[in-house]
Amino acid sequence: MPQPGCSCCYDEAFDADFAASELRLYRRRGPGRASKALADALSRPSVAGLTVLDIGGGVGAVHHLLLERGASSATDIDASSGYLAAAQEAAASRGLTDRVTFRHGDFVALAADIEPADLVALDRVVCCYPDVDALVGRAAERTRRRLAITIPPDIWVARLVIRAINVWEWVTRSDLRIHAHPHERVRALARAAGLVPVSSTPVGSWRLLVFERPILTSDSR
Ligand SMILES: C[S@@+](CC[C@H](N)C(=O)[O-])C[C@H]1O[C@@H](n2cnc3c(N)ncnc32)[C@H](O)[C@@H]1O
Repeated sequence: MPQPGCSCCYDEAFDADFAASELRLYRRRGPGRASKALADALSRPSVAGLTVLDIGGGVGAVHHLLLERGASSATDIDASSGYLAAAQEAAASRGLTDRVTFRHGDFVALAADIEPADLVALDRVVCCYPDVDALVGRAAERTRRRLAITIPPDIWVARLVIRAINVWEWVTRSDLRIHAHPHERVRALARAAGLVPVSSTPVGSWRLLVFERPILTSDSR
């Protein structure tokens, strides 16, 4: 059933059973390749004392890595209550509970109420959300230093796979749809919020896009 503020069905698509099995996998194998690469990109040159906004954080792999490397605090905002509960459990077992604020809901709907953060992560989230302008635009506006996004590659094979996944979602009566948002649109939204593209690198079957807010020196003002 659609949730207030959510355009879809994240509580159903990523329900408690799904999140619990992702948490078991995370405990056995550690962070996935995309999450690790994204956290590494946000960690450069350092995370010491910085704040983190992990949008759609799942089990919390990205904010765990950043907090364990010295970030001061994190906010995890997730539209799935199953994932949020799994992230709370994982944070507790790592002794990180006091440094993470958990919010349930659609980031786009709640954005006005979310403090900007130094480091912002959208790890495999943009493709789950139909309104790329609102999601990436608001995330970029709330980025003080760096924004990192993992997204499906902008190539026809990926678009074909996404179509096949959506047929499966339809057959299984799920309301979730995967979206192949053009990377150029993502870059334009980041630029419009004052960020500059730093890199675009392949990570397994994903692409990692990194943006940075230029530091204004007295010369450049
Ligand atoms: C494919 S999962 C990825 C989870 C995790 N980031 C990872 O890479 O393992 C997508 C996540 O994004 C969340 N999500 C999608 N759109 C969202 C939005 N607008 N606000 C908050 N969470 C969102 C979903 O609830 C889900 O937890």
